[in-house]
Amino acid sequence: VDAHCHFDQPTSDGSVMADDFESGPRSAAFGGTTTVIPFACQQKGQSLRAAVDDYHQRADGKSVIDYAFHLIVTDPNPQVLGQELPALIREGYTSFKIYTTYDDLKLNDREIIEVLALAKREGALTMIHAENSDAIAWLTEALERAGQTAPQFHADARPPIAEREATHRAISLAEIVDVPMLVVHVSGGEAMEQIAHARSKGLRVFAETCPQYILLTRDDLDLDGFEGAKHICSPPPRDAQSQESVWRGLANGTFQVFSSDHAPFKYDSSTGKKLRGEGASFLHVPNGIPGVETRLPLLFSEGVGKGRISLNQFVALTATNPARLYGLYPRKGTITIGADADITIWDPEREVTITNAQLHHNVDYTPYEGRRVTGWPETVLQRGEVLVRDGALCAEKGQGQFLTCGVPDTAM
Ligand code: URP
Ligand code: ZN
Ligand code: ZN
Repeated sequence: VDAHCHFDQPTSDGSVMADDFESGPRSAAFGGTTTVIPFACQQKGQSLRAAVDDYHQRADGKSVIDYAFHLIVTDPNPQVLGQELPALIREGYTSFKIYTTYDDLKLNDREIIEVLALAKREGALTMIHAENSDAIAWLTEALERAGQTAPQFHADARPPIAEREATHRAISLAEIVDVPMLVVHVSGGEAMEQIAHARSKGLRVFAETCPQYILLTRDDLDLDGFEGAKHICSPPPRDAQSQESVWRGLANGTFQVFSSDHAPFKYDSSTGKKLRGEGASFLHVPNGIPGVETRLPLLFSEGVGKGRISLNQFVALTATNPARLYGLYPRKGTITIGADADITIWDPEREVTITNAQLHHNVDYTPYEGRRVTGWPETVLQRGEVLVRDGALCAEKGQGQFLTCGVPDTAM
């Protein structure tokens, strides 16, 4: 279950996501993922219901694997809070993401509280992107004044402290409201300390991390020419010490979920990373990196293969826990009588050198080009039927089913 991926999501800057609901889920299937939970994102001023209808149209008849939707709430006006969101939650959209950053997406603290209070009333799970927007804006302006606009400076504009502060604030607001919350794409130790502290007090704060935070560092934003733009995502990859912190958190239970945050923009494209041309300020580079197909092989190889996490932890982080937290369990996330028989069979010995040419997304690069992994998904089944075998797709476009989600299970 890849519980954090973006497909065919409209943007406000003219950039275009390279993967839609056909290529994204197809790529996921080849990587051993049988359920994806992308986002249906409300534009400010748009009705949430209209956003959901729009995403259903985008997805209808396309996905090769099962999919559900998280909502993204950007405009929690009285209509949304009073009617649309409660109705959608009851219809099976039981999780939604909110942002503390990006002008076209972010909520202020009062709005976050109102949304958290609604999640409590209706039994939904709030996911939060935690980075301090004003600090980022101030740092970005200072960097631009100093002419420090190359991709690497994206990491300076969005430092760990900005993530830590927003994580602390979000947790405090959830504590005030007394509601569970999940912090998405946590990048390193500073934010993790806030989460671990909250969990040690018994707060139901959950956390997700992603491949980029165990395998990339800010040095990957500092490649020759404009190549570093390939690795611009938010929060940015940090340093070797952060990677070690994230591994500890995957092993000790600070993290419950390991997702890709697949946000697919082509590199060599005027609708992708080169939206404003090579040499544009990092401020104008679309944020996000691809990874829906490489998520499981990377965690298997680096985590299970190198003894950092157990095989059971691998399954919990990538399937069982996201299925439980997002109300898909026991249909998904477990092998049991009555469940969907979505099964990925691994060859734990197979050695693969990752290249973009072998992947099935519609992006022109992978951040993991040339990386050697041991272990690969050989056969992938959905509802007992073969989806992928020996590197070939054995499924029809559109055979994936839309899943409504039940009540999030936050007793973990
Ligand atoms: O840089 C990222 N992560 N882009 C995707 C959108 C998000 O905030 O998850
Ligand atoms: Zn985010
Ligand atoms: Zn994301």
